[in-house]
Amino acid sequence: MREKWQDDGGEKKITMKINNQEYSMVVEPHWTLREVIHDKLGLTGTKEMCDKGACGSCTVIMDGRPILSCMSLAIECERHEIETVENLEVVGNPLVEAYANNHAMQCGYCTPGFVMTAKALLDRNPDPDEEEIKDALEGNICRCGTYPAHLGAVLEAATKLGGGKK
Ligand code: FES
Ligand code: FES
Repeated sequence: MREKWQDDGGEKKITMKINNQEYSMVVEPHWTLREVIHDKLGLTGTKEMCDKGACGSCTVIMDGRPILSCMSLAIECERHEIETVENLEVVGNPLVEAYANNHAMQCGYCTPGFVMTAKALLDRNPDPDEEEIKDALEGNICRCGTYPAHLGAVLEAATKLGGGKK
């Protein structure tokens, strides 16, 4: 188990599993999960755009569900399993490759949030139709307007993962 910031004057010691790695850390009660992941652990793939729960760029997966890490206090995540975009292989991951094939990013700032939301969808439903994909991604905002490309990317990933289109 990795030990982080123990005895540093923080308020509460918690444990959580992030990307299959156990962490033990002392956190202050007001720290968000996004702050811990991005600022303290250096997993910078998880982005912050609004810090108000309105854009989805900070999305990570907790216990199989996509959550907004800017709206989740770290102390509430004790003993939970978190997955961030760093857990996805850059080469050989069907979802990542489908995103690249479909050019589903411009500046890329929102992309980790979209990808983790899409992964959570495909993990629970490997055969989503277009409406299900749109519903799943509706909370993710892209300033560059890449919305149409995400549909194709997720459908392609579903096919590669064996789901296929309805
Ligand atoms: S940064 Fe979390 S929803 Fe926008
Ligand atoms: S690709 Fe730039 S914000 Fe989405």
